Amino acid sequence: MVEPRRVSRMFLGKKEAMMTPKVKKAIFPMGGLGTRFLPVTKSIPKEMLPIVDRPLILYAVEEAKAAGIEEFIFITARGKGAIEDFFDHSQELSQILLDRNENAKQALLQDMLLRPGQVCHIRQQDPLGLGHAVWCARHLIGPTEPFAVVLADDLIKSSVSCLQQMVSAYAGGHMVAVQEVALQDVSSYGILEGMTGHGATIRATGIVEKPKPEHAPSTMAVIGRYILDGSIFSILEGQQKGHGGEIQLTDGLAKSLEKADPYPYLTGFKFQGERFDCGSLRGFLRATLSYAMDTEELREEIRSFGEAHFL
Ligand code: G1P
Repeated sequence: MVEPRRVSRMFLGKKEAMMTPKVKKAIFPMGGLGTRFLPVTKSIPKEMLPIVDRPLILYAVEEAKAAGIEEFIFITARGKGAIEDFFDHSQELSQILLDRNENAKQALLQDMLLRPGQVCHIRQQDPLGLGHAVWCARHLIGPTEPFAVVLADDLIKSSVSCLQQMVSAYAGGHMVAVQEVALQDVSSYGILEGMTGHGATIRATGIVEKPKPEHAPSTMAVIGRYILDGSIFSILEGQQKGHGGEIQLTDGLAKSLEKADPYPYLTGFKFQGERFDCGSLRGFLRATLSYAMDTEELREEIRSFGEAHFL
């Protein structure tokens, strides 16, 4: 078995860097209630809300596929059945499209499918937090295996998928996608502490969940993409409730950093791309407009509508 890396790729020779285990599995936590989007989320999972014509979860899955992820672990909850159906065959619909010679649409649906055994759905019976959601997948991932976590409501538009950028830079330990945010916004994010290094990858000695601005150790915020070392599961096992009365992944990461040096360490990765916070109405609307403007048949429509109504 290949030992997980204990030092950053920056300090590794070429041969050692090549030994970093491949990231093949991704967890998609989707147990949240989506209360910010009520009433629509009363009966539609938040992850099924569309940006133009694709649900948020499809963007997340496509991003992970582009990063080479082969196994998709969906952490769901009561009322999230539409997600399972979405990635399954719909024989009846396929037949209708074929009968109507709508082959392009049929091919689109075919492309989206996850192959049998490639996807697994786990119910998170209670919305106990992100740390708990990740812990729910503990039996599917080895104790030294690196894996990704993708939060579908952080939509990232980029030419190279954000997770793909991270996988390429990953050299072991825990890695989180990061972005600078305004001081008044730090209380919405996990925030890095004790940062060193320059360029796209920085090392951090700590991380804190949703601090008040006056207590924030920095303004470097975690965005919903992680590559974690499998050792996080044993830490989450005994994790106490933290911010908001939930079991926080951030707290688990902070705890793992207290363990013996130099492993596991925490790297912040400054990704290239534009991030939309689709967990908020504002971010969701911005994403909708941005993706619509990328769609040729909608671009002119938005321009002329904007000119007629808003200028
Ligand atoms: C979660 C994490 C937080 C992270 C954020 C990114 O918070 O707990 O550390 O910065 O995702 O979007 P949530 O937005 O689910 O409250």
